[in-house]
Amino acid sequence: MPKDKTLEVLFHDTLKDIYYAEKKILKTLPKMARAAQSPKLKAAFEKHRDETEGHVERLQQVFELMGKRAQGKTCDAIEGIVSEGEEIIDNFKGMPAIDAGLISSAQAVEHYEITRYGTLKRWAEVLGMGDAAKLLGQTLAEESKTDEALTGLADSFANDMAKAA
Ligand SMILES: [Fe+2]
Ligand SMILES: [Fe+2]
Repeated sequence: MPKDKTLEVLFHDTLKDIYYAEKKILKTLPKMARAAQSPKLKAAFEKHRDETEGHVERLQQVFELMGKRAQGKTCDAIEGIVSEGEEIIDNFKGMPAIDAGLISSAQAVEHYEITRYGTLKRWAEVLGMGDAAKLLGQTLAEESKTDEALTGLADSFANDMAKAA
């Protein structure tokens, strides 16, 4: 059995996966902001779009720390999550449930990011890449905060708005 497929290779492959995903999310968040009815939700998507630019930059720094070129690899998971989100936009645009639907798809994205960053941060620690672990941890914290903010928006108005037709 070949012995060259180490944790470092797995880390590098997963880094490419999330790099692709973040770039996809960067293009998707403005569409979600446009589809949102409430100004609060629009603002939340716009804010996270700006944060996502920072996530892409941090990943570029991690590639650099590894001495590798920043490069994405098609992430089927994010493609699927985003296309389900587009389906919600198509089906609920202008309807009372649109914001609840958008929040649900945004939270699916955040949870995907949280699982990826959680794993990558831990692997970076195991690999002795302290600086990379720190960068990945910063993004992980922002994804978790965004997820909590979305729950707050769902609870404060979006779910009720969706119910009242
Ligand atoms: Fe992100
Ligand atoms: Fe995110």
